[in-house]
This record gives sequence, structure tokens and C-alpha cells, in this order.
Amino acid sequence: MTVTANEKPVPGGNFVKVELDDGIAWVKLNRPEKRNAMSVGLAEEMVKVLDDLEIDDRCGVVILTGEGEAFSAGMDLKDFFRATDNVSDIERMRAYRSTRAWQWRMLMHYAKPTIAMVNGWCFGGAFTPLICCDLAIASDDAVFGLSEINWGVIPGGVVSKAISTLMNDRKAMYYVMTGEKFGGKMAEQLGLVNESVPADRLRERTTELARILLAKNPTVLRQARMAYKYVREMTWEESAEYLTAKADQTTFIDPEKGREKGLSQFLDDKTFRPGHGTYIREG
Ligand code: ACO
Repeated sequence: MTVTANEKPVPGGNFVKVELDDGIAWVKLNRPEKRNAMSVGLAEEMVKVLDDLEIDDRCGVVILTGEGEAFSAGMDLKDFFRATDNVSDIERMRAYRSTRAWQWRMLMHYAKPTIAMVNGWCFGGAFTPLICCDLAIASDDAVFGLSEINWGVIPGGVVSKAISTLMNDRKAMYYVMTGEKFGGKMAEQLGLVNESVPADRLRERTTELARILLAKNPTVLRQARMAYKYVREMTWEESAEYLTAKADQTTFIDPEKGREKGLSQFLDDKTFRPGHGTYIREG
């Protein structure tokens, strides 16, 4: 679907560009001349964009990517380092508020599925939104780096915590300590992205993945994503209790009654086998 002038406005502003296309919201960091370095202004816009898209029926999946040749060159060093050097702690905290909100608080528990499409440079602070998206596809020629050590800071914000959730400790420590750059294929091996594909296949493959997600029962998909993310921090006992309750809640709130349909198509009608595909959602 291409958005026309008389439809409700498309979210976005100067630093975040949104394109809505047939259920997919392409959310682009839009400071290509600054390699999409993430400024305070960009963070403020992103909070609004994500907030709006969460309740916009035109968006079933968010794809986060960068305009131009970068995914993101990390935190805007001018805004977040130089400009906050001589301000009070309260002002510094306020400068970080929107960044913390969108990069991990919102993305981590977002109501709709999210895919990061890493199209180029991805440094430092950019690892946080990358990791907090549900899935990620990179271009083989993307360049990743925890460059902090090379200019006298630690991987702060919440980068060190974010990488510890996906990367093996030895490998994470290696890149934290050396600041060595790596490409898309290595990002795949490290578990930072699901797949790395040639640059000319990046958009096509990411769209294909988004379409797979769009075809699922959206309520069950949301509950499954949330459940997985929450149990990571729970004990086995807590997880068992929580997942039992979450499963009941899912059955209760699912407007299309997926569980009931799936069971009856398998057990009664014998029209579907879970091992061979998905239940028939319509009818
Ligand atoms: N913060 C602020 N400005 C930035 C950033 C950044 N993170 N990254 C790039 N820019 C600006 C440059 O200063 C330059 O601005 P100017 O045109 O006003 O001089 C513009 O973006 C273009 O950057 P170039 O360096 O000219 O672009 P090039 O394509 O040669 O290199 C690269 C791209 C490799 C990404 C380079 O810009 C770079 O090393 N950026 C910093 C990467 C980094 O280490 N980020 C910080 C991680 S730490 C953290 O996020 C806390």
C-alpha cells in the first residue's frame, strides 16, 4: 500500500523517516550526512514514531534501518559527549532519557515484531537498538565495531549489557577490548544478526522475512515474543508458572481463536499438520 495524501499522516520528521508499504513500516534513521549518528533530536523523534506506529493499523512489522551508507555510526559524539560535558547531572540524565526510551525500553517490549536491517556502518551505541530488535539481517558489506576503546571510553549507555545477551563472553570481550571491526558474515557467526546476505539481496530478504511474520496470528506472535524475552531473566520455576499463565492469557485474548482452530483442524478435520505448515487462519 502506498500512502496517499488523504490518509492519516505518516509518522516521522527530520531525523526519522517512515515509509509504509503493505503492512511493513520502514523506519529509517535519517541523518545520512552524519552517517545516522543518533542525536538527542533523533531520539525524541524516534520515541514518537515508535509510539505512533504501535497503534497504527498500517504497520504490522517494523523494519529499522538507516538512510544512505550507514545503519548508524553510534551515538552522536557532539550531543552526547561534548555538549553534556559541562552540564548538571540532571541535564545529562534528561539528554539520555529519549535514547534510553527508544533504543531498549520501547524496542525490547514493542507490541509489534521488529527487524533490524543493517545496511552499512554500525558502531558503538548502534548495537543497542540492533540487539533489542527481535530479528536482524545484515548486508555482507556492513561494518560493525565496538570502537569505544579506540577513543577513550567504555561501551557504555547499555551497550555492554546488550552484547552480553547475545554474544559469547570470550568473543564479546575480544571486541570490547580490541575495538576490531568485523563484517556481516562475522556478525552472523557471533549471533548478532540472524543472517548476512549480499548487499543486493538485503532489502528483498528482509521484506521476505517481514512477510512471513505478517502472515502469522498477530496476537500469538506478540505473546510468544514477549514470553521469550521475559523468561530470559526468570528462574525455571518462575518461567513455568509465568508461561502457563501467559498461554492461558493468549487463548483468552486471541480474537481469531487460533488455538481452537489449530486443534480442530488437526484433530477433527485433519486438514492440517503442525509439522507441515500453519493452520488455516480464515474460516
Ligand atoms: N557522532 C557525530 N558525528 C558523526 C559520527 C558520530 N558518531 N559519526 C560520523 N559523524 C559525522 C562526521 O563527524 C562527519 O561530519 P562533518 O561532515 O560535519 O565533518 C560526518 O558524520 C561524515 O563522517 P565521515 O567520517 O566524514 O564519513 P566516512 O564515510 O569517511 O566514515 C565512519 C564513516 C567510519 C562511520 C566515521 O564517520 C566514524 O568513524 N564515525 C564514528 C564511529 C564511532 O566510533 N561511533 C561512536 C561509537 S561510540 C558510541 O556510540 C558511544
